[in-house]
Amino acid sequence: MKIKVVKDEIAGGKEGLRVFEEAKQNGANVFGLATGSTPVTTYNEIVQSNLDFTDSISINLDEYVGLGPDHPQSYRYFMQTHLFNQKPFKQSYVPDGLNKDPQTVSKEYEQLIQEHPIDLQLLGLGRNGHIGFNEPGTALDAKTHQVTLTQSTIDANARFFENENEVPRYAYSMGIGTIMQAKEILIEAYGENKAHAVAQMVEGPVTTDCPASVLQQHPNVTVVLDQAAASQLTKKY
Ligand code: GLP
Repeated sequence: MKIKVVKDEIAGGKEGLRVFEEAKQNGANVFGLATGSTPVTTYNEIVQSNLDFTDSISINLDEYVGLGPDHPQSYRYFMQTHLFNQKPFKQSYVPDGLNKDPQTVSKEYEQLIQEHPIDLQLLGLGRNGHIGFNEPGTALDAKTHQVTLTQSTIDANARFFENENEVPRYAYSMGIGTIMQAKEILIEAYGENKAHAVAQMVEGPVTTDCPASVLQQHPNVTVVLDQAAASQLTKKY
């Protein structure tokens, strides 16, 4: 893992942009994208950059079950607002949250990824070490599937909804096995409430207790952290 510790998430966004620029120069054309507050500074940098994605494909990690593209908390809506409206891609895929048939959604999404293998996958990190919506305990080789969200994730995401009861209980998510197939991975984490998960991911054992720890086994991972998120690492990077 290449670990980069920067001052704050603004600087992290610039690092993120650099990883996208380099990947693109090297021919990357399929980009796995993520939602949440973490990638926002990277998206802001991309929006202000000269990067052109009109020939590229994006495939998002996950989506809440039950939320459609017009719902302000759906991940499709998030992507439109933070990136796609300003930086269009040739095609942008997000799992269909309105399709209530997990088998079909999962199968079709895996087929899509097989047809368009992901060159660079961007990830955020959940406070409990989850990636995508792969909560602790998820099999490390799982493919796209329907996930039952844990209470800790529901609590963490409740801030985006009027009240906790409105937070969806299920999501569709690429599995950890799907994520690990990407040729390159960029994971970002900012703030002290990610520090424990970061330490587990980078220095802990590879275990389903911290899904992100499996990234230690991927050959090309860049980790971008601010100082607070890096504060529980014991080694110097
Ligand atoms: C959600 C998303 C993840 C994201 C995580 C962290 O659960 N499904 O993809 O990484 O939250 O969110 P944030 O970046 O807002 O801390």
